[in-house]
Amino acid sequence: MPRHFTRIRDLGYEGAWKLLQRAKEMKDTAHWGKIMEGKTAILIFEKASTRTRVSFEMAVRHLGGSTIFMTPAESQLGRSEPLRDTARVLSRYADCMVVRTFGQSKITELAEYGSIPVINALTDEGHPCQVMGDVLTMYERTPDLSTVRVAWVGDGNNMANSWIEAAVYFPFELFMAFPEGYEPDRDLLGYALNAGAKIFLTHDPRMAVDGAHYVNTDVWASMGQEEEQKKREAAFKGYCVDTEMMALAAPDAKFMHCLPAHRGEEVTDEVMESPASIIFDQAENRLHIQKAILEWAFSE
Ligand code: CP
Ligand code: NVA
Repeated sequence: MPRHFTRIRDLGYEGAWKLLQRAKEMKDTAHWGKIMEGKTAILIFEKASTRTRVSFEMAVRHLGGSTIFMTPAESQLGRSEPLRDTARVLSRYADCMVVRTFGQSKITELAEYGSIPVINALTDEGHPCQVMGDVLTMYERTPDLSTVRVAWVGDGNNMANSWIEAAVYFPFELFMAFPEGYEPDRDLLGYALNAGAKIFLTHDPRMAVDGAHYVNTDVWASMGQEEEQKKREAAFKGYCVDTEMMALAAPDAKFMHCLPAHRGEEVTDEVMESPASIIFDQAENRLHIQKAILEWAFSE
């Protein structure tokens, strides 16, 4: 059975911790290894990307492999060829699929019908590569994650869902604020809380940020929700992470954002450019964590 990374839960508790350690090691070129020598990753992207595409392309090269980039516009994916056929065809040519798409069910279908590893490069339901990279970014600064309080201020979107999953394996406290009607996946929350995750929910962003060591936000309208932009701008009033909101956080608190950001909406330019901002360390860690994820997918 191929090893798929469709969500953080696929790693298991030990696997998730090992991944952090390994990604940290792999920051040093001496630890890269050539596990993808002679192997090809197909990158299927149904949504735009800068960081995920380029960091995966680089990660595969660093591990000795090559990539093919595919979009619906230039392939039969855009002409309704069934995914289950695409999965079986691509499995005959290549060694893994890295997929950015809409519904999580598309990732599940590719994994079910293909015979090579499938890696989730963002769906409407989750962004596990990003959040594992973000946990690495915190871990490097605060190795004892049990002392860490994380705030999430914004939409109950793919990023929020993956943070909830991460809180099952990593012992930080997660204080999350959403406007009413924009809460994250209920079943996922139930799973995480039952599994012992320390998650607290509120509709007051200030309460979530109070005393936090890491303050996270993301766009109010994700890819695919562009038509809801105006409605969401109204719903998320009071959710902009500005200097005043950051002042409620712990002394020396850091600001995090997966990027791309809409400056002036969910975060101010001032916070993005402040010394508290660690957004480019997060972006860099995508490369390291994804190298470790690829290695995990190709390990027994
Ligand atoms: N954070 C992130 O996934 O960025 P891209 O959309 O540029 O890949
Ligand atoms: N929530 C955002 C994340 C982009 C990296 C989106 O899905 O568009």
